[in-house]
Order: sequence, then C-alpha cells, then structure tokens
Amino acid sequence: MTIQHSPGSDRAETERLRGRIADALDRARRRTIGLTECVDEAELVEQHSRLMSPLVWDLAHIGNQEELWLVRDVGGREPVRQDIDHLYDAFQHARADRPALPLLDPAQARDYVGSVRDKVWDVLEHSPLRGNDLVQDGFAFGMIAQHEQQHDETMLATHQLRSGEAVLSAPPAPGARVAVSGEVVLPAGEFIMGTDSDPWALDNERPAHPVWVDAFAIDAAPITNEQYLAFVDDGGYERAELWSERGWAHRVAAGLTAPQFWEQDSGGHWWRRVFGTMQPLRAHQPVVHVCWFEAEAYANWAGKRLPTEAEWEKAARFDPATGRSRRYPWGDIDPSEALANLGQHHLEPADIGAYPAGASPAGVHQLIGDVWEWTASGFEAYPGFRAFPYREYSEVFFGGDYRVLRGGSFGADQVACRGTFRNWDHPIRRQIFSGFRLARDLRSDER
Ligand SMILES: [Fe+2]
Repeated sequence: MTIQHSPGSDRAETERLRGRIADALDRARRRTIGLTECVDEAELVEQHSRLMSPLVWDLAHIGNQEELWLVRDVGGREPVRQDIDHLYDAFQHARADRPALPLLDPAQARDYVGSVRDKVWDVLEHSPLRGNDLVQDGFAFGMIAQHEQQHDETMLATHQLRSGEAVLSAPPAPGARVAVSGEVVLPAGEFIMGTDSDPWALDNERPAHPVWVDAFAIDAAPITNEQYLAFVDDGGYERAELWSERGWAHRVAAGLTAPQFWEQDSGGHWWRRVFGTMQPLRAHQPVVHVCWFEAEAYANWAGKRLPTEAEWEKAARFDPATGRSRRYPWGDIDPSEALANLGQHHLEPADIGAYPAGASPAGVHQLIGDVWEWTASGFEAYPGFRAFPYREYSEVFFGGDYRVLRGGSFGADQVACRGTFRNWDHPIRRQIFSGFRLARDLRSDER
C-alpha cells in the first residue's frame, strides 16, 4: 500500500517545520542578546584576546551572514547593507585585525541584526521550504541558526577570556547520578558514519558511508580534572619524552604548565577561573581548555591514545541491537536537559555520571555536551563529499593543520550538535571548551 499525502497534511507539515525554524532562530537570537547586553559599549568594541573578534564584530557578522543567505539568496530581496559585506567576511580579515576596521558601533549593529531578522520572518513566511536544495526541509534557515549558535559559543569563549567582574551566571552543572569509570570495548565491525537523512546536517557530515572499525576500547567518560592533575603532579609538563616533537616545542614556546585558566595558590591547591570567578578545581568534572598537544601528552603518559574520529562516532552512534547508527548516543530524539549538558544552561561541564540517560547502548557516557572531545584525526572530506552550499564552509579547511573535535560542549546549542557533527581547530588551540577521552587497541588476549 502506498500512503497518499493530501495537500492538507503537507501544509500542516510545512507549518510545523516553520515553527521549528522560528524556534531555532529565536533561541539563537535570545542567546546572542544575552551575551552582548551584559557588558557595556566599551567592552563590546574591545578585543579581549587576539584570538577573538570584538563581540560587536560577531554580532554584526551574525546579521550579515543571515542577510546574505536568507534575505538575498533564499528571499531574493534587496540588500539591507551591501556596503558592509567586506567588513564581516571572515576570510578577508583575520580576527586580530578586526578591531581596526570601521565596524558598525554597538547601536548600529543591533539595529542592523534586528532589521535583517524582521525581513527573515517575512522570507520564512513566504518560502515553500522545498523545491531546491538550499531551502529543502528548511536547510538554509537551519544553517543560519547553527551559524549564530556557533558564534554564540565563540562569544562565550570570549567571555571566558575577558578579565574583570563576572557578568554571566547560571546554576552549577549537576553532580554524579551514577558511578562511571573504566573503559567500554566495542567489537570489530562496520558501521555507518555520517548522514544522508539529517536535514540540517552540514556538508562535511555527508554522505553516510560504511566504515570498518577494528575492535577497540574507549573510556566510558571524558578525562577528569582529578585524572589530569595526576599527570601534572607526575611532572607531565616537564617530561619531553611524553610529548611529540611539535607538542613539546609548543609547550616550551607557550610556557604551558597546566590547562588554561588553572591557578595554584600558595598552599598548593588548584583553582579554576570560570567566567570571572575563582572556583576550587572540581575533581570529577571533565578537564576543559586543553589543546590537542596536551591531550596527546596525557595519552602517552597514560599508555593510551586519542580515539580516531570513526571510533568516536561509532561509540556515539552504533546500536548493536539493530546495527544502525543513531542520531545521538541515547537514540534519535532531540537532546534535553536530562540527556546532555548543552545550550549554556550551565557555565561548566558536569561531573562524570551526571547524565546516565544520555549514555550509549554500550555504556559510553557524556559523549554529547560538557566538553568538545579532541580526536586523533585530521579534518578530511568523507568519500563522495560535495561542497554545499559554498566551498568556504568546509572544503577549504580539508587537509589543513586541524584536528577534529566531537560531541559539543556545555556552550554548544543542540541545533549545532549531533552524533555526526564535526568541529575542527588547530592543535594548539585551547580557548575553546575542549577536553578529551582516551582509547586503545585491544591486546591479543582481549580479542
Ligand atoms: Fe561565521
């Protein structure tokens, strides 16, 4: 029997999709406003770190990308501010150079993003949300909501870097609900990596393709502050033999002695600066703000290694009962506060064991949320990759000096976090909310 869709049910489906798009755009904008209204004008235009843009640049850039894709491209409308396109093109100006540009001031930037968004509501109302790849299932709208949320996470990292009084607040992340430790073994076999079916998945997550993964063991949880501190206390930062040649050169040149934002008091106790407040190191919280080279050195010290990207995704998505790949470790339903620490509901990772309902079928915990997890893998195209909707989204980064991070952090919104979602950064970067877990090959007696 074939199911006939009536025009009425199609209309209802399209209206539901419009509602989902409006929710995603609205949630992103509320967050953007929250991150830019809590500091004064001087702080908005100031550069808090050479690694970051002034917050006012991110703000207007969010509006500019929304104008380019949704107002002009999808909507076919007249430009709002074509004259400023070049100022907000991330490829034309490095972050360090952005403060010197003749940027919109905070009031102008707010007006601009507001007038773009007003036009977008009209475009959304009139778009059929089908008929070409760009609007099919609301893709372009989903892409723009993800883009805004990714910049919100970047702005959150800028807030972590700024000095001065705390301006953000949120309840502490939850403690453990169950005890989680040790490793989980995943047997050898093929699984489907990437996706063809997630409508808002970006080009680099596509297409779905089979990947053979040898048997491996992966940590049931990310490495904690307590575990990482044992590496620090064991002289991890002084022992060149634990580091790769590049990693050691960076360790020395950058003067690394502990994760970023860690401070030791005269009594030998460790503290962490978290968005302007000093907090005692939380022992069972995943370590955050470590670079790839630090993760690599820790892995050498522990006699293990970082998981490959395929291993990470298999641990996060493979369902041994059905053999299919899920959207998330817990299944196909969207994340919620019971399943994962996402969406800036907290300003820190949660303790290990805080999200038992979010674990994978094999018992791997906290793959989604808390901290971005470094993998061993460089950023490469999947077989059959097709750049969409533009080469600059992913393709120009393939093969560069990047490592892939997976799983999202407490500062990532669910619209920009899936079992297939790929993030990438230079191996020296640690202002991002990055941590890691370890993996290893099985010994012959374990196979
Ligand atoms: Fe951007």
